[in-house]
Amino acid sequence: MKVSALASSLIGSEIIKIGNEVNEMKRKGASIANLTIGDFDSSIYPIPSELKTGIVEAYHQNQTNYPPADGVLSLRETVSGLLKDRFDLDYGANSILISGGSRPLIYATYLALVDPGDTVVFPAPSWNNNHYCHLTSANTVAVKTDAENNFMPTAAQLKPHLKGATLLALCSPLNPTGTMFSAAQLAEICDVVLEENKSRKEGEKALYIMYDQMYSLLTFGKEHVHPVGLRPEMKDYTIFIDGSSKCLAATGVRVGWGFGPAEIINKMKAIVGHMGAWAPKAEQVAMADYFQHKGQVDTFLNGFKKRIQDSLEALYNGFIELKNEGFNVDAIEPMGAIYLTIKIDYIGKSTADGQLLKDSADVNFYLIKEAGAALVPFSAFGNEDHMPWFRASVGACALQDIKEMMPRIKAALSKLK
Ligand SMILES: Cc1ncc(COP(=O)(O)O)c(C=O)c1O
Repeated sequence: MKVSALASSLIGSEIIKIGNEVNEMKRKGASIANLTIGDFDSSIYPIPSELKTGIVEAYHQNQTNYPPADGVLSLRETVSGLLKDRFDLDYGANSILISGGSRPLIYATYLALVDPGDTVVFPAPSWNNNHYCHLTSANTVAVKTDAENNFMPTAAQLKPHLKGATLLALCSPLNPTGTMFSAAQLAEICDVVLEENKSRKEGEKALYIMYDQMYSLLTFGKEHVHPVGLRPEMKDYTIFIDGSSKCLAATGVRVGWGFGPAEIINKMKAIVGHMGAWAPKAEQVAMADYFQHKGQVDTFLNGFKKRIQDSLEALYNGFIELKNEGFNVDAIEPMGAIYLTIKIDYIGKSTADGQLLKDSADVNFYLIKEAGAALVPFSAFGNEDHMPWFRASVGACALQDIKEMMPRIKAALSKLK
């Protein structure tokens, strides 16, 4: 069958591929700690009970017709208040767009700003920018970052690629690393973007930052920073991506919000409308009500974050212990989100039955089979397959399973020669 050039060259999600293999092995009876998918096991991490009740109640009230194209007003107003309260950001309801989770907002940002052949710059590792570049036929520039900077991009790394670029896609706390920008790091990047925009001629397209702060309410002590807070002039050039999927463990509820300059948000509204990618109306109504009760939100967030942090720290401490025992592993201290960055430097080693682990995918599948531990190599986030770094996502795994997995990893690594 003939499909479009775009469809025939689409690449599926590597993470879902690994996740599917793990599920297949589990189906056959294997016991595997699944640290692959950036999702939650809803029996371990259910959504807030008040939100659940609110959604059911909204259906009882027949909130079942089309929502307004930009989202129900009460939710946009609630989000406006939330942004002011939590991040000191001033965005009125007209600068906020609701959609069915945050992905449509990312795609709409790309579609609203990027013409075929325009340059989009993003760090590697990062999540899914390569796919959105493909969908918009962008000229893709993936800038490699390094462990010394917690895999967050620096102004010096980005600057050489920004001349004439249309979009710089940033994210903090970052998927896949669970690390965050410091104020100084991000301010330097903003300065480079402002300088680039000043150098552009009248009528020339500006350079925008898409700032994905999906995990901004899931931080463990470090302050979340954003371009507009550090450089108010960045307000004209920043489109924020945000939403409820991760901070409320509500990935299946599908309510996301984006905000930025009203004229761009308006175009994104039309794009999301043509896709019909609105959030279900009942979920919007319930979400608006839920976020109006700050005490209840804080109680949920504190409990939820503590459990996620406990899991990340158990994993982090486990790998640091192995490192101290002389294993070729390392980890970066968790700062936010649901992810830990782990180094497992065993590429080039051989298994007990003589099989060479030639790349990070081989190491990953060895650990799945031998240790019942499934991670995602950074090659799934735009890095080379010889890079020994991996993402562990703790949302779909109980703390006990993580603790029980560590001795199995130790035993499996001990067998490599
Ligand atoms: C950084 C980041 N942004 C956006 C999303 C998309 O979220 P949603 O499920 O609301 O579409 C994800 C999901 O994994 C993410 O990690």
